[in-house]
Amino acid sequence: MFTIITGAQFGDEGKGKVVDLISGDYDLVVRFQGGDNAGHTVKVGDDVYKLHLVPSGFLFDTRVLIGPGTVMNPEVLAGEIDMLAEGGIELGPEKLGIDAKTSIIMPYHIELDGLRESRRTEKIGTTRRGIGFAYIDKVARDEIRMADIANRDRLLRRLNELAPSRESSIKELGGDPGIVMDERLIARYADLGKRLAPYITDVSYEINRALEEGRNVLAEGAQGTHLDVIHGTQKFVTSSSTIAGSACANLGVGPTKVDGVLGIVKAYITRVGEGPLPTELTDRTGRRIQEVGKEFGTTTGRARRCGWFDLPLLKKAIYLNGYTSIALTKLDVLSDLDPIKVCVSYELDGRALDYPPENTADLARCRPVYEELPGWKGDLTGVKGFDELPQAAQNYILSLEKSMGVPIVYVSVGPARAQTFRKETGN
Ligand code: GDP
Ligand code: IMO
Ligand code: MG
Repeated sequence: MFTIITGAQFGDEGKGKVVDLISGDYDLVVRFQGGDNAGHTVKVGDDVYKLHLVPSGFLFDTRVLIGPGTVMNPEVLAGEIDMLAEGGIELGPEKLGIDAKTSIIMPYHIELDGLRESRRTEKIGTTRRGIGFAYIDKVARDEIRMADIANRDRLLRRLNELAPSRESSIKELGGDPGIVMDERLIARYADLGKRLAPYITDVSYEINRALEEGRNVLAEGAQGTHLDVIHGTQKFVTSSSTIAGSACANLGVGPTKVDGVLGIVKAYITRVGEGPLPTELTDRTGRRIQEVGKEFGTTTGRARRCGWFDLPLLKKAIYLNGYTSIALTKLDVLSDLDPIKVCVSYELDGRALDYPPENTADLARCRPVYEELPGWKGDLTGVKGFDELPQAAQNYILSLEKSMGVPIVYVSVGPARAQTFRKETGN
């Protein structure tokens, strides 16, 4: 079985939580795009793990893989391995694999990201983790790969070849070009390369073999659908393709192998960084959702912008991903808000649209048209099944499900693994 999970909105939908929840059913859990711009939270009992690179299936007896379509900062990965080891979770090479072709985020990528962002008149609000510049180098065939840092001579050869153009780019943006050939940094990367070398694997081969042998593979998306570099709200997007089809291309698995695509959907919407968010709430309700939902970025700590559920954007996410099922998260956060609004269409230049316009500038001008649903009172975080939910919360779920036309299979009512139930079975 090959399942793909992606975020249906602008990231931070609760992908980490849902991946952890279902990982017990999978033999391999794989990251296929993005890098440490992602921040995925897993909470089991009192233990909370906030990870940027290690796939969220690490708590189970599964093998976790980092695919060749990702961009990986080895310092961050080594830090996560160490942090988990301190808590008694060993991520040795039998547990974690890194594809030889994984692009490495170098210090100059991070420098360039920061410099470029601070010089933009209209900011993107990147995480400044060097993601965009690492992907630029990947498509320009100027990347340094996992296999390169594992071999000090190859790393040096590669750096010598790339240094002049990277140095002039940094200089042009007003930065210090010395970072490119900084001896201390090169030595550190060579050390990290040596340390991570035993983890090197061929991810595509591993996955295809596993599927051939009837084992189960889960692809864990990062970011969210509308941050997709091709189909998102450019330019306010990340630099990788975040939609489900990207898992096949990035992992080297044929589309005929996909059994299901699970969309993670927050019961409202959030966005961190710049770019249009038609249902954004800048009032007390928005601040309340932010506070109750603890909507602060896992990676940068920035406050996430919050808004009501946006059906037109969700419809587009369903088209782009071909979702076969949905997990609805953070329903508990909407308690005590009455009414609860759902954006059913937009108004743009006197026209009603039930699908987002293709142009980002037009999306920014869209005015949401709301349908109001009755809210409910009381804490949902202890609810164990659909039937236990207040009638208004049940109606909210059923109404979203009907509008989306895709079954909601999981409902999440709190950050912990246990605070989830399957909709059909009532746990
Ligand atoms: P991801 O990037 O999609 O993995 O999501 P993040 O981990 O960045 O952000 C989701 C946040 O919401 C995390 O702090 C989770 O612990 C938390 N969370 C997930 N599901 C729920 C839920 O159903 N209710 C509440 N209150 N918090 C949740
Ligand atoms: P997870 O996996 C939310 C946003 C940044 C910025 C834009 C580009 O936790 O859902 P980048 O550093 O990627 O060049 O930034 O994308 N962004 C995310 N927003 N969740 C994420 O990941 C994100 N990763 C990147 O805020 O607007
Ligand atoms: Mg996140």
